[in-house]
This record gives sequence, C-alpha cells and structure tokens, in this order.
Amino acid sequence: MAIERTLSIVKPDATRKNHVGAIVARFESEGLRIAAIRKVWMSKQEAEGFYAVHAARPFFGELVEFMTSGPSVVIVLEGENAVARNRELMGATNPAQAADGTLRKLYAASIGENAVHGSDSLENATIETAYFFRGTEIF
Ligand code: CMP
Repeated sequence: MAIERTLSIVKPDATRKNHVGAIVARFESEGLRIAAIRKVWMSKQEAEGFYAVHAARPFFGELVEFMTSGPSVVIVLEGENAVARNRELMGATNPAQAADGTLRKLYAASIGENAVHGSDSLENATIETAYFFRGTEIF
C-alpha cells in the first residue's frame, strides 16, 4: 500500500449543520492526516469548473446551486490508501444506500445534499487537489 493524498470537501449542508469538527475528527481517528484545510465559498464559476465532468447531467444546475449556497471546507487528506479509505468512510453517494457508520449515513440528507465529496481516483485526486491548493500550502 502507498501513502496517497486525496481531496475531501465538507459540503455546504454539513457546514450549515456544524458537522465540520466531527467529520475532521473522524478522518483523523481513522488514520488520515489533514495535509491542508481551508474554508471556501465557491463562486458559480468555481463550482461549475470543479464539477465540469458532470456538466451534461440533468442534476448539474441543482448541484452547482447547492455547492454555491454556503461555505464548504476543502481538505487534503494524506495516508495509506487515502483515496479508497476516504471513499469507504464517506459511504455511497446516496445516503439511503450508505452503510451504517459512514459519513453520508450519519450526516447526509439526500443524494444532492450528501455532506461530503471525495476524489474517486488517484488521478482525479491530483487534479482536484490542485483546483484548491498550491503545492506550498500542503504539508
Ligand atoms: P459528489 O461525490 O460530490 O460528486 C457529484 C455529485 O453530484 C454527487 O456527489 C452528488 O451530490 C451529486 N449527484 C449525483 N447524482 C445526483 C442526482 N441524481 N441528483 C442530484 N445530485 C446528484
């Protein structure tokens, strides 16, 4: 197994509900290290750029509206197998299908407002991390 970095976003629903600390604590207790962290209120352009891969999906407008509805916390997580570990911790995209104890089961209300985002591959983790952080901000 390799030490990897991945991007996590604590989404506007979770920041509104004051779940940032609980989610960060969970990452740390599961052995993932916070290599960088910042609160951001994404503009429409930033949210559209981040989710550009979903631009043709019917839910794209709703997704961008939600992601710009309040601040998010963007986090670079580092650890053994961090990409897959983070995705296990998040649970399924739809909280109704997420396993017990996962972040989405605990904190998400719906598929659209699903509390957290996590990169789905090491390649996308590199791209998504660079979207929010310069190399000099990651330790
Ligand atoms: P995320 O992991 O951030 O990546 C893309 C997001 O699109 C996803 O989480 C969901 O929040 C959102 N999404 C996926 N499917 C739907 C859907 N059917 N309706 C609304 N939002 C969706």
